[in-house]
Amino acid sequence: MRVVTDRNEMARLCREALRPLGLVPTMGALHGGHLALVAQARRENATLAATIFVNPAQFGPHEDLAGYPRDLERDLALLRSQGVDLVYVPPVEEVYPPGFDTWVEVGRLAARLEGARRPGHFRGVATVVTKLLALVRPDRAYFGQKDAQQTLVVRQLVRDLDIGVVVVVVPTVRDPDGLALSSRNAYLTTEQRRAAPVVYRALCRAEQLWRRGEREGERLRREVRLALQGERLVEEIDYVSVADAATLEELDRVAGPALVSLAVKLGRPHLIDNITLG
Ligand code: PAF
Repeated sequence: MRVVTDRNEMARLCREALRPLGLVPTMGALHGGHLALVAQARRENATLAATIFVNPAQFGPHEDLAGYPRDLERDLALLRSQGVDLVYVPPVEEVYPPGFDTWVEVGRLAARLEGARRPGHFRGVATVVTKLLALVRPDRAYFGQKDAQQTLVVRQLVRDLDIGVVVVVVPTVRDPDGLALSSRNAYLTTEQRRAAPVVYRALCRAEQLWRRGEREGERLRREVRLALQGERLVEEIDYVSVADAATLEELDRVAGPALVSLAVKLGRPHLIDNITLG
């Protein structure tokens, strides 16, 4: 496995790589969710590249950039054990050199849900993903369904900017009690970790009602909220959404594929999760 910090060297190695070339972009602090992306990408490509870059541009001024969990040696050992060929670990100045002044803004999709809760977040994500795709030029790029809105934002920018890459979305990996794996779960205390599966249980409540024939968006949102409010450690419900799975517009009636998603503050982290109906 080659570990590369220089963008020209990374570009050269990718140009010379056997095709198809797969890319798994990450911010490190790898867990089973990342490893599912890597495993699928390994099966589907002749060469597999990953990136580890905690992207400052996608953190708001009051977010946990400095405290974001980092363990490069452990991450590299995991990627090596999964058969990754190339890992790009750029310093911040490689990605945002002095004078950097071009940003990728996705419109309506990026303004909703996480975009409303974290202004500027998707501008940072879209910019860094565009830069990584331009550098690596992979045939396929892999993202987790856990960040459902991010996958839609990436698909939109790939379509709009004519980037020739297939975006592959890999299902969410959950602990046995339902909690979706996330680097931010590391911030939970033992008591909060015990309470956290309420997030998935609340989503499952919507699915249960939908299976019984409930199609009113507001009723489904209300039931998810009620389930969350039943857990005293949920300090804040940022949003509960039942939206069109492609546009993320809130639905009055669920008639086609819908994304049920939510964000809550539980202790230090905000936890996000989602399921798809239909
Ligand atoms: O999902 C993530 O880890 C990040 O948002 C990504 C896609 C690596 C961009 O920094």
